Amino acid sequence: MYIGIDLGTSSVKAILIDNSQKILATSHSPLTTQSPKNGYSEQNPEEWIKATHNCFQELIKKKPKDFSNTISIGISGHMHGATLLDNQGSVIRPCILWNDTRSHEECEEFEKQSFDVRSISGNIAMPGFTAPKINWVKNNEVENFKKISKVLLPKDFLRFYLTGEFYSEMSDASGTLWLDVKNRKWSDKLLACSYLEEKNMPKLVEGNHDTGFLKQSLKEKFKFINNVIIVGGAGDNAAAAIGMGVVNENQSFISLGTSGVFFTPTENFLINTSDAVHSFCHCLPNKWHLMSVMLSASNCLDWICNITNTSINEALTNIEKYYSNQSSIMNSSYFLPYLTGERTPHNDPFIRGSFHSIKTNTDKTDMQYAVIEGISFAILDGVKSILKVNENFDKIYVVGGGSKSSFWIQFLSSLLNRQLRICDQSEFGAALGVARLAIYADKNIENKEEIIKKIKFKKEFSPQLDNIELLLKRYEVWKNIYSSNKIIASDLLFSE
Ligand code: XUL
Repeated sequence: MYIGIDLGTSSVKAILIDNSQKILATSHSPLTTQSPKNGYSEQNPEEWIKATHNCFQELIKKKPKDFSNTISIGISGHMHGATLLDNQGSVIRPCILWNDTRSHEECEEFEKQSFDVRSISGNIAMPGFTAPKINWVKNNEVENFKKISKVLLPKDFLRFYLTGEFYSEMSDASGTLWLDVKNRKWSDKLLACSYLEEKNMPKLVEGNHDTGFLKQSLKEKFKFINNVIIVGGAGDNAAAAIGMGVVNENQSFISLGTSGVFFTPTENFLINTSDAVHSFCHCLPNKWHLMSVMLSASNCLDWICNITNTSINEALTNIEKYYSNQSSIMNSSYFLPYLTGERTPHNDPFIRGSFHSIKTNTDKTDMQYAVIEGISFAILDGVKSILKVNENFDKIYVVGGGSKSSFWIQFLSSLLNRQLRICDQSEFGAALGVARLAIYADKNIENKEEIIKKIKFKKEFSPQLDNIELLLKRYEVWKNIYSSNKIIASDLLFSE
């Protein structure tokens, strides 16, 4: 038996699978996020531990015998978070999360060096990444900075709790900005930009390699029979990719979750920092991936449905009807989906969401359509940014809450001019991915190349050409709206 733990932003999820990868049980336990100031986003690492305990207890309740026979565990987690430990291994301050935007000034400071930071890190310094958060702590909480002995990513803190060992793996480490992504090792030069050294970092492994055994006290507490091995695991997107079987360069997926991601593996280290594309190691040896990240995807749909007091299903039904009338689309308002700033392709922490071209006859369906269209245009921006350096991917899988709407997927398929496949994948996709990585630790499994199976897809969508010319025209206008808005974006935020 193998366990996958996914430390998500809103909950910890766990999955128990057997050696045929059959899912025996799942569990989840909620987490809270604190926002002490506008743009701040923090979590208390103690909660991650409690939630993991809850998840284990629930798995035990559902499958006690199988749980106790666990051989190995994989861990995945939300990326980029800065968890600071002192020399006693105690947490210094709450973890600063991936969606925290306080460190935009430190991003400039980080990149002002006598060498080309981006060519080693493969990425732009963006406030979401780990490094500028540490520079912010140095500039604003000097006493906390002085206490730093180790900086750990969220899932690696959980590993430290489970094993007492300091390890990370390549996919998550890529999102720190301290990794030499091409050569898969910590970069002394990049660490020095945050006044840190390699001794402040965990050791690095590949996602399918061992990082130690579960502590004796936890082995006894949860009544495990074996000395349970913990493998490297992966950042949440790489883990979700493994959960789907997305490993090779012709594959790709779009995740329409809170954030919107387009992810495609590569056989080499490729970069496009001009469009804020993320260039990270994949969680298997000698594999990398490119990723576009929009910070608010389904999040925008939840938001508009909330304030217009409409259920998501009702909104989607109304939007589908609305879309069948060309003149409605032609006269529809526009929406910039940047509720919390944007990464790919703008790297703009100041921009926020906005509606444009509101008229006397604009109603809620019109605005809801504009939101779906705006999110889809932003996904197109991401795919186009990646196409500039890599054209190798073919059909695209779609996962996440947004993939439940056939209308939306059909719309995206037409807009991207690609075949899209809806996956059977559940919210446990990342947990399944790292449970698969955990299988590599089992010495009795012979065909290790059989471990990463492709996921079954439920339905395939092909581009439909009606309305496409009109949509592409609107896309050009929508892009111009960003160009004019970005000039005043930081003034608009002045009161924050
Ligand atoms: C990726 C990213 C998010 C987080 C949270 O760069 O910031 O996907 O990992 O899911």
